Amino acid sequence: MHLLSSLLPSPSSYTHFPLSIDSPPKLFALGLSKDLPPLPLPNLRYPGCKLVGCGSAVPTLQISNDDLSKMVDTNDEWISVRTGIRRRRVLSGRDNLIALGVDASRKALEMAKVDPDDLDLILMCTSTPEDLFGSAPQIQKHLGCKANPLAYDITAACSGFVLGLISAACHIRGGGFRNVLVIGADALSRYVDWTDRGSCILFGDAAGAVLVQACDSEEDGLFGFDLHSDGSGQRHLNASIKEHESNTALDSNGSVLDFPPRKSSYSFIQMNGKEVFRFAVRCVPQSIESALEKAGLPASSIDWLLLHQANQRIIDAVAARLEVPSERVISNLANYGNTSAASIPLALDEAVRSGKVKAGQTIAAAGFGAGLTWGSAIIRWG
Ligand code: ACO
Repeated sequence: MHLLSSLLPSPSSYTHFPLSIDSPPKLFALGLSKDLPPLPLPNLRYPGCKLVGCGSAVPTLQISNDDLSKMVDTNDEWISVRTGIRRRRVLSGRDNLIALGVDASRKALEMAKVDPDDLDLILMCTSTPEDLFGSAPQIQKHLGCKANPLAYDITAACSGFVLGLISAACHIRGGGFRNVLVIGADALSRYVDWTDRGSCILFGDAAGAVLVQACDSEEDGLFGFDLHSDGSGQRHLNASIKEHESNTALDSNGSVLDFPPRKSSYSFIQMNGKEVFRFAVRCVPQSIESALEKAGLPASSIDWLLLHQANQRIIDAVAARLEVPSERVISNLANYGNTSAASIPLALDEAVRSGKVKAGQTIAAAGFGAGLTWGSAIIRWG
C-alpha cells in the first residue's frame, strides 16, 4: 500500500521534474546485445494513465438456478432473494480460461485501436491459472504480440482486477510503459464443491480486459486509490493446498520421512459466507471513502459505483452507506454470478457497450475477497 503510494507521485510532481525530453519516450535497448528486449525509460512526458478500451468473454454453458436445484437442495427463490443471482456461465468442453482472456483482450485492443504489437505489458489477474507458473505469457502468445511484451500474473482473487489496474498505473507512471493490458479472468467453477449449496450457487467463470494507456497529466484517469490485505481473515475464505501435502513429514532427528512429496492439489473453496458478508459491508465503503478522500472528491461526484459482483445485498448495502442512488449502481451479477477477478471488467464492458457508462464519467470501483484483500480506485472512463 505505502510502496504503491510512493510509486505514484501526483501528476503535478512530474510537471516540476528537473529533466525534460523533446520527443515522447521510446523503448530502447541499452546496447548489451541487439537480441535483448528493449528496456523502458522512465515516463517523463506521460505521467498520467487512462482507460481507453474494454472487452469481455464468457463461456457458452449457462447454468440457471433451476438447474442447480436439480443438483443440490436449493431453489431459484432462495438464491435470487439472498444473492440476486439468477444464472451463471461455467467452463465446459473445449472452453478454457486462456481463450476467454484472449477473446476479451482482442475486444479491448480493438476498442482502444491499439495493435497487439504496441503492447508493453500484459497483466493477467487470476487465481485460477491454466498453468501454475502463470497464464499471462500464453495470452501474449495467442494475441500474436511480435514484440514480446512483459507478461505476468497477479493473484488476489476478487480484488485482482483493482490491483492490476493500480499496478498498470505504477508501471506507466514510474516505468515508462505506454500500453498496458489488464485482464481479470477466473474459473472458480474448478474449485467449487458442487455438492455444497452454501457456496456452489455463487460462482461463475468469465474474463474481462481493459487497456490502460499513458497520457498527459491533464488527461489522467486515476484520481485516487486505496488497497488493503489481512491474512488473518484467510480462515473465512480459501482454497488451500490440502493439509497433508503442505509439509513434508520429518522424524525426531529432522530426517525427511515422506519423500518425494505426493502430487499436490487444492481443496474446494471453503467459505464462511456470513463472515465474508460482514467483512465486505464494513471494509468496502471505508476503502471507497478513503480513495475518494485521496482523490479530493466527494461521494456525490461518483457517476457510477462498480463493485465486485459478489452479492446484490452487499452492493445495495455499500451503495446505501455511500448514499449512491440505485440508478447509479452497476450490477450484472444476476446473469453471471460472482466471477472473481473478472467481475469488474465484465460489468464495465457491458455498461460501456450498452452506452450506460460514457467517456469522461467517474467510476468508483472496488474489489474484495479472498486473502483477505480489498481495495478501490476512483477512475475516469475514456
Ligand atoms: N439454498 C437453500 N437454502 C440454503 C442455501 C441454498 N443454496 N444455502 C444455505 N441455505 C440455508 C442454510 O442451511 C440456512 O438454513 P438454516 O437456517 O435451517 O440453518 C439458511 O439457508 C440460512 O443460511 P445462511 O448461510 O445464514 O444464509 P445467508 O443469508 O448468510 O446467505 C450467502 C448465504 C448467500 C453465502 C451470504 O452469506 C453471502 O453472500 N456471503 C458473502 C459470500 C461472498 O461474497 N463470497 C465470495 C467472496 S469473493 C472471493 O474472493 C471468492
